Amino acid sequence: MNEAAVNDKSATVSVPLKSLDDIQKPIAAELETFQAHFRRHLDTDVFLLNRIIRYLMRMKGKQMRPLLVLLSAKICGGINERSYVAATMIELLHTATLIHDDVVDEADQRRGFLSINKVWKNKASVLFGDFLLAKGLLVAVDTNEFELLKVLSTAVKRMSEGELRQLKASKLQNMTEEKYYQIITEKTGSLLVACCECGAISASADSEVRTRMQEIGNHIGIAFQIRDDLLDYSLRETGKTAGNDILERKITLPFIAALEGASLLERRKMKWLYRKKGKNPEEVDKIRTFVMQKGGIDYAKRKMEEHAGKALILLNDFPESETRDIFSEFIRFVIYRNK
Ligand code: IPE
Ligand code: IPE
Ligand code: MG
Ligand code: MG
Repeated sequence: MNEAAVNDKSATVSVPLKSLDDIQKPIAAELETFQAHFRRHLDTDVFLLNRIIRYLMRMKGKQMRPLLVLLSAKICGGINERSYVAATMIELLHTATLIHDDVVDEADQRRGFLSINKVWKNKASVLFGDFLLAKGLLVAVDTNEFELLKVLSTAVKRMSEGELRQLKASKLQNMTEEKYYQIITEKTGSLLVACCECGAISASADSEVRTRMQEIGNHIGIAFQIRDDLLDYSLRETGKTAGNDILERKITLPFIAALEGASLLERRKMKWLYRKKGKNPEEVDKIRTFVMQKGGIDYAKRKMEEHAGKALILLNDFPESETRDIFSEFIRFVIYRNK
């Protein structure tokens, strides 16, 4: 256990936060099985692909989505072969979208390594992302899991819609809080909904439980992305370039909320600065300070906690169990993680 979240004074946290390792421990064996599936599905004999894949295997992510699939399956009845199919597909699709996302966001760093686009450039990255996307969908085709395929194709479609909507909104600079939620629900929530839903499907849960799991996934997804957007404002080492959203002119909740608390003049000045291309470190810092002073960080934290709280309430409709406790810890980890 660690004593994270010391700066996060929240009603949701009254006991020490569990680390991801601690959360994973009770289903370590199942996660191992997932890992084996994942590695097997990445096999290819194309030379360039193999080089990128080897690099990718070194830059392993948190693998929170497979964990969420397995926890969802477990709370809905039990983990089985279908759960592994879903977890493998989802991690492949997630990885593909991150590679594409780094091209779109012109990101140099991912998971503490140089991003794929930084090493192999945009063209190879787009193609490699396509390869992983196809691989992910084929996992379902090869195992005749058409229900999972449908859920995940829909999620990927919604993710792309969200990413495109975000691109347009940041260009036009007409972002609102409402539009922000719509974007993050699509670009991030969709896949987390799919994690919970596929876990439930694999455990043959009835439609009422499946709907509840979708709602839980949606709240987790929104909270997860708000945390990600908050981390972009922090100066912690996250494995990604801090302040990249500010540099890329991507407007997120802390900035939207800070504008609400500012005078007309300040608002105009800050919007102008945010829109500026090629900001220097002092300008990025100025935006950070503005957002903090105007309560943008606190506001976003509150919203994040609200969504996590809703997920926890829905989760409590399941009978008390060890799995439910781990699931709760997982939700708390999502909002207090530092990576
Ligand atoms: C990053 O997701 C993309 C977002 C939706 C914010 P993760 O933070 O789960 O990425 P990895 O897989 O652990 O690197
Ligand atoms: C999430 O948004 C990206 C996807 C849903 C693919 P971000 O652009 O904020 O994610 P990071 O910060 O690059 O991981
Ligand atoms: Mg990005
Ligand atoms: Mg981000």
